[in-house]
Amino acid sequence: MTEQRLLHAQWSSRMAFILAASGSAIGLGNIWKFPYLAGQYGGGAFVLVYLLCVVAIGLPIMIAETLLGRRGRQSPINTMLTLAEEAKASPNWHYAGWLGVTAGFLILSYYSVIAGWSMAYIFKVNSALFEHIHAAAATRFFDEFKSSWEFQLIWHTVFMVATMVIVSRGVSGGLERATRYMMPALLAMLVLLDFYGMSSGGFGQGFAFLFNPDFSKLTGEGVLAAMGQAFFSLGLGMGSIMVYGSYLPAHVSIARSSAFVASADTAVALMAGLAIFPIVFANGLEPTMGPGLIFQTLPIAFGQMPAGWLFGMVFFVLVFFAAVTSAIALIEPAVAFLAENLALHRKTACLYAGLACWALGLATAFSFNIWSEVKLFDKTLFELVDFVTANLMLPLGGLLVAVFAAWVMPRATVESELEMGPGPAFGLWHALTRYVAPAGIVIIFLDALGVL
Ligand code: PFF
Repeated sequence: MTEQRLLHAQWSSRMAFILAASGSAIGLGNIWKFPYLAGQYGGGAFVLVYLLCVVAIGLPIMIAETLLGRRGRQSPINTMLTLAEEAKASPNWHYAGWLGVTAGFLILSYYSVIAGWSMAYIFKVNSALFEHIHAAAATRFFDEFKSSWEFQLIWHTVFMVATMVIVSRGVSGGLERATRYMMPALLAMLVLLDFYGMSSGGFGQGFAFLFNPDFSKLTGEGVLAAMGQAFFSLGLGMGSIMVYGSYLPAHVSIARSSAFVASADTAVALMAGLAIFPIVFANGLEPTMGPGLIFQTLPIAFGQMPAGWLFGMVFFVLVFFAAVTSAIALIEPAVAFLAENLALHRKTACLYAGLACWALGLATAFSFNIWSEVKLFDKTLFELVDFVTANLMLPLGGLLVAVFAAWVMPRATVESELEMGPGPAFGLWHALTRYVAPAGIVIIFLDALGVL
């Protein structure tokens, strides 16, 4: 009971919401995923589509999702039920909440494996192993690490246990407060790596790769991946922002808070890209090397800079922190659902959700080694779970949120909730959420299917 009440207590300030939402947004998506997707899908054009998606689709939906949460003030499934009733719409809207719970759960299953990699690297970078390491050796090292199913199993398990202990104790408030220090520290480390990149001899090429769009390299699949990445990185479309919104006090500007979180998130991703690609080009590496990209490039940078082992350790500790704060957001909807609907104690709900997620994560852990040949639709199990969640489920969840906020909820309700003042801001948000975002998502889906 107390826990429930605590959970639904209101944030004391706008800052607390911003910290929690940034903690959820900034994570492996920015540091690990954005650079490797940009590398795989040809650089500049992918980045441009990604930025467009953040501004025209992501931010309006982030505002919408926060708004639904604040208005409903419950867990996502029940919020959708209440709001649908209030708007005299079909109770079927609560299936949007279900979609989110499932997506978060599936994402965490592989997120944990990759977070395990950064935990492992905290210890690796600290040894003499990386001193003056060359590209070929860094790649060999990563390949050996990845192809050991035992290592994958161990680190995935360690990360999952750590996350579930934090979630079950409900100490995430403390972690969110830690984001206040962690985020600037992560930013400082990225600045350091950006400076290193500038001195590496590959900066010009790296910069051009990221910001000089070559549209001939852009495919329907790349556009879908860019949109999926916008949702993934902002932490949208699965109800976690809705949960945070439900704690937000009235009269706090949702639009301004969301804009801050989205800007911080995007800045971190771009800075990570600017750190990685100079290393790629200075060392003759391939931008298309996939999920191992940061793990094969950053050791070279840390291996060359003075006290690199220390910076490297600090960096991977910060990445681990960033991953934990996102992991909490990913599993919270599932835990809340189990606790509420099956009347389980919070700790028991955590144990069940954590165990199931861990078991599912084995598919990803082994897809890099003993199950690398297991393929469905031409994708490894990791690629499949990632594709279905980030590229399909999150945008679909976002689409439902946008349609609900801009078509189903009465405009007057939404307008009074958002309190955007007399200027054009509300009209702009409403038009983006009502037309641009849903149309954009549908067009990108159809295009990737080859229908357009
Ligand atoms: N935004 C997180 C990242 O970029 O790593 C991942 C994530 C968190 C996705 C929360 C979805 C979510 F609801």
